[in-house]
Order: sequence, then structure tokens, then C-alpha cells
Amino acid sequence: MKPKIFVTRSLPEPAMLKLAEDFEVRVNPFDRAMTKCEILEGTKWCDILLCLLSDSIDADIVRCNPNLKGIVNYAVGFNNIDVAAATKLKIPVTNTPGVLTAATADLAWALIFAVARRVPEADEFMRSGKFQGWAPLLFLGSDITGKTLGIIGAGRIGTAVAKRAVGFDMKILYCNDVHAISAEIPAERVALNELLERSDFITIHAPLVPSTKHLIGERELKMMKKTAFLINTARGQIVDEKALVKALQEGWIAGAGLDVYENEPEMTEGLKECKNAVLLPHLGSATNETRTRMGLICAENAKAIWDGKKPPQIVNAEIY
Ligand code: DGY
Repeated sequence: MKPKIFVTRSLPEPAMLKLAEDFEVRVNPFDRAMTKCEILEGTKWCDILLCLLSDSIDADIVRCNPNLKGIVNYAVGFNNIDVAAATKLKIPVTNTPGVLTAATADLAWALIFAVARRVPEADEFMRSGKFQGWAPLLFLGSDITGKTLGIIGAGRIGTAVAKRAVGFDMKILYCNDVHAISAEIPAERVALNELLERSDFITIHAPLVPSTKHLIGERELKMMKKTAFLINTARGQIVDEKALVKALQEGWIAGAGLDVYENEPEMTEGLKECKNAVLLPHLGSATNETRTRMGLICAENAKAIWDGKKPPQIVNAEIY
């Protein structure tokens, strides 16, 4: 008999096929997120839970099945899982770092271009038949080349964003307590306050942990230049979204490009009316190739757990 894996949402086909080679797979039959009740029920049935960043895997779920062998997250971030509860029970938790670095860095850049050059507004203008011909003042945006880019968090994704900025002759600033950007990339490490004051574009690539919750609030937004843009492809809760809406409405900053939200999938009141914000539905890793690679890593992690080996991408290595 094959071990059982419960998958909370269908993944790209190659990943589902790989999982089926080694496991009896039960998958969410609906095209929607599962409720807590449904995840509890599936977790009680399985040996391994394969979940999404949008599933809250709290202590109730972690503890509901005394035979649970592992929790495999289809994401690099794992703030959705009560890792402490899993560690206490010696349940391995895994993630998918590395394979989504380029896709997420590319999307941060897509947001930089979109906000700086007002791409969605201009697209809407064309579609609604308003274009009457070239005009010197039509949709003026902001230069990117030669400007200053501030990167909050200099792990894999922050570094990939910095690498791309070199091609745009940007001055690169970053802040990070742990990692340093490799010396091959001309980047200056500064404190957060200095980064906020000097940057024309600020892009967030930090994990969500207690110390980064609301790292960017009213005070920080007011420290930014009035002409600067804030980009967030990391986690919504790093930014105080209410304060951001105020900043966008009252012109404390020029604009924002967001892929993530404080209470996904909800948005703070007023945000969608802000013309100076470009809003995406959490698409950082959303390419066919990347989402497939993420699924294949999940399959490898799950197989290793079942085989009693340390999985390749373990979050709580201390249990081994
Ligand atoms: C992750 O994996 O944490 C990303 O947010 C997915 O897009």
C-alpha cells in the first residue's frame, strides 16, 4: 500500500503525476481554497499534508493526526504554518526555496516598470478609445535608469532584484541584518532609515517574521521621498496597509506596486480606488516553469520524509 498524501489544491500536472508515483493522492476537488474543516479532515486521513501559502496550518491542524509524518509547503515562505507546534511533535516542515527566485525578482521588476511608466492606466486609456494622438504631456511617468533602488531584505530574491538593477545603471542600496549582497554587485548596505530617505524605488524581499510585521508603517512611509514608489512582492503584513492607503491618497509617496496584501485575498478599503497603485493577485512565482518546479520539489520533499530521510528543503532541521 502506498502512503497517503493530502494536497489542498491541484498543482501543475507534472507534479501531480510525480506525487502519484509514490503516494495515494487525495486532492481538493474544488477550484477554491479549502476551509479549516476540510483541511482538518484531509489531514486526519493522510500521512503527509501538502499545503499552500494561503492555508493557515495552525496548531489544531498540526496536532489533529498523531500519525502525521510531514507538512510540505508549496511556497518558499512558511509563515502560514505553526512551525513551532510541528517541531515540538518532531514533524518535518519543508518549503521550496531557490526555484522561484528568478520569477519573483522578475515580477518585482514588472511592478517597478508598471508603476513608474503607468502601464495599466495607459492600457486602460487605449482600450477605452481615448487616444487622440501623441502629446508631450500624455502619461508622463518617472525614469528608472540611473535612479536609486532600495532593497529591504538581501536573501536570494533581493539579490536577484539587485542583479537586474545593474543593467539599469541604478544606485543600489539595501538593508539586511543577516545577509550581505555578493561583492560582485555594486550595492551599498545601509540602515533602513537611510534607505527610506534616499531611494526612488523601494522593494521588499524580507520574510514575514515577528520583527518584520508592519516594518513599513506611517512613520516609514513619511520618511520616503514624495516621488518614490514602494513595491511589495514578499508578504502583505510587512506593510501597514491602512497607512499605505493614506500615503497613496494623500501623496506622501508617488505610488505602490503590490503583489501581496495584509489580509489576502481582501484589500484595505480605499486601496483599489488608488490610481497610483498597481495591484496584482499574488503572482510572484506564477510561471508554468516555476510552479512546476515548486511542485516537483514538494514531491521530492514528501518522498524523502516518507523514506525517513532528511528532506532536501527542510525548515525545521533541528528535529533531525
Ligand atoms: C512563496 O513561495 O512564498 C511565494 O510567495 C509564492 O508566490
